[in-house]
Amino acid sequence: MQVETASTERLDLVWLSPAALEGLLDGRRSDVEQLGGFALPDDWPNEHDRRFLAYRQRQISKDPGEARWLVRAIVLRDEARPMIGHIGFHGSPGRNSRSDPQAVEVGYTIFEPYRRRGYATEAVRALMGWAEGEGIDRFVASIAPDNVPSLALVGKLGFREVGRHWDDEDGEELEFELP
Ligand SMILES: CC(C)(COP(=O)(O)OP(=O)(O)OC[C@H]1O[C@@H](n2cnc3c(N)ncnc32)[C@H](O)[C@@H]1OP(=O)(O)O)[C@@H](O)C(=O)NCCC(=O)NCCS
Repeated sequence: MQVETASTERLDLVWLSPAALEGLLDGRRSDVEQLGGFALPDDWPNEHDRRFLAYRQRQISKDPGEARWLVRAIVLRDEARPMIGHIGFHGSPGRNSRSDPQAVEVGYTIFEPYRRRGYATEAVRALMGWAEGEGIDRFVASIAPDNVPSLALVGKLGFREVGRHWDDEDGEELEFELP
């Protein structure tokens, strides 16, 4: 299976296939770089993101159909093609904190040196555009109440706060929907 790259003016959102996830977790960095056509940051995946990738890998082993919704590298489209962050949905439609059967939940990170240049805004819009092509028109996001940048981002995109929940890993989170 191959999932198409979503592209914007400055970015490519390159899907991390099950083989790429395995390569990252096994430390086969150059294989992953070759497979994806981008340059990995020296310090990624860190311990936190290794746990995140391993979780996604377990999700795929339970249901291979999940893979296409999960992690993508956010790649800057210049000559060096650095990976500047990652983005994806928490799973296929229905796997979201609102238990909305029609919705997908988006998650994203831009690595620190690249923040505040509009890359997250551009990447989230592009990923939602890809999902719209898959027939999705309902989006969810969960954000810690003190995460000012992420709250600003979803506000800018038109999401509205609709609830809150407790997450064992991340603590209290506010729930947002894009109407
Ligand atoms: C949240 C995050 C992805 C934003 O990435 P980014 O590329 O810097 O975001 P953008 O440049 O697209 O900024 C979008 C809006 O957020 C706001 N914003 C971004 N960083 C901000 C900050 N440090 N303080 C206040 N507002 C901020 C701005 O309003 C900005 O809009 P503007 O450029 O029109 O002013 C990034 O800070 C990050 O990776 N944080 C750590 C991981 C994380 O929290 N992920 C989200 C989990 S829910």
